[in-house]
Amino acid sequence: MNELPHIPVLLDAVLDTLRVTDHPAGRYVDGTVGAGGHAAAILQAAPEARLLGLDRDPAALALAAEQLAPFGDRATLRHASYEQISAVVPAWLAFISDTASDTVSGADGILLDLGISSMQVDDPARGFAFRHDGPLDMRFDPAGGGISAAEIVNTWDDAALADILYTYGEERHSRRIARAILAARAPQPIESTRQLAEIVASAYKGPREKIHPATRTFQALRIAVNDELGAVERVLPRAIDCLKVGGRLAVISFHSLEDRIVKQTFKHEATDCICPPPQPVCTCDHVARVRLVTRKPIQPDAPEIDANPRSRSAKLRVVERIE
Ligand SMILES: C[S@@+](CC[C@H](N)C(=O)[O-])C[C@H]1O[C@@H](n2cnc3c(N)ncnc32)[C@H](O)[C@@H]1O
Repeated sequence: MNELPHIPVLLDAVLDTLRVTDHPAGRYVDGTVGAGGHAAAILQAAPEARLLGLDRDPAALALAAEQLAPFGDRATLRHASYEQISAVVPAWLAFISDTASDTVSGADGILLDLGISSMQVDDPARGFAFRHDGPLDMRFDPAGGGISAAEIVNTWDDAALADILYTYGEERHSRRIARAILAARAPQPIESTRQLAEIVASAYKGPREKIHPATRTFQALRIAVNDELGAVERVLPRAIDCLKVGGRLAVISFHSLEDRIVKQTFKHEATDCICPPPQPVCTCDHVARVRLVTRKPIQPDAPEIDANPRSRSAKLRVVERIE
C-alpha cells in the first residue's frame, strides 16, 4: 500500500466499534472513502470482507483506487454522494451476494468520516485553504454543478453572508466581515482565496488568536457550498436503513453542529416513544431502530493529536441496528 496523503482519524476506535475482526467476511460501506485509509484498514483486518467506498470527489476516488488496488475485487468504488446510500448499497449487495439473504439483510458496518481530507485542503486548485492562493471554489465535486464559494461571496447580500459566517463558522465578527466583503467586491469580484483571506484579516478587529482570522470564514463557506449539514441530516436515517440487524453505523464529525445532528438523530432513532412528556398514552408509535453503542463520543487521545493535529476536534459516535 502507498503512503497515505491523509492520516485516518480514530482508526483503532473505528475498527473496534465496527467489530471488524469479529466479521471477517463482513459487508462494509465507507461513505466518505477519501484516500482510502480507513477502508484499507477494514479490508486488512477482515480478510474476506467486501467494501463499497463512496466519495463525491473524483480526485479522492482516484487516490482510493490506488490505495485499495491490492485488495482486488474486495473493494468497489463509486462516485456518489453518501446521500445516495439507499440506492447504491442494495445494488452493490445484490451484485456481490452469493445468497439472496445477503441482499435483504444489509451491511455489517457503515462509516462516515465527515468533512474534508488533507489532500483537499492542501491542493490550491480546490480553493479550500487561505494558506495557498487559488480560485475560490470549495466544491467537493467541482464538475458536479452547484454553487462555488466565489458565487456566494460575490452575490449574496450582507445579511445572508453574515448568517452563514455566524452559524457555520461561529464567527463573532460576522457582520463586520460580511460588510467588508461587500465593500471589497463592489469594484470587481473577489476571485482568489488569498484575496478573501486578506479582506477578512483587514476587517477583523478582535484580539490576536492562534488561528488565522479567516479560518472560521473559510470553514463556513465550505459548509455552505457543499450543504454539509443538510447532507448529514439526510444520510443518517438512510444509512440506518442499509444496516442488517446487529450492523453498526460509525460517524466521525469535526464540527459542533455536525456532532449535534449526529447525537440528536442517534438519540431519536434509539428511542421508542417520542410523544411529548405530559402525554399519558403513547400515540406516536415510534419504534427504536438502533441502540447507542457510544453514550459519550470517542475522541482522539493526546498522542493521536500530537501525531495528527487535524484530528483534535474529531468525535466518533456509533449505533447498532436492533430491529
Ligand atoms: C475526512 S475525508 C475521509 C478520509 C478517509 N476516511 C480516509 O481515511 O482517507 C472526508 C471525505 O468525504 C468526502 N465527502 C464529503 N461530502 C461527501 C458526500 N456528501 N458524499 C460522499 N463523500 C463526501 C470528501 O470528498 C472527503 O474525501
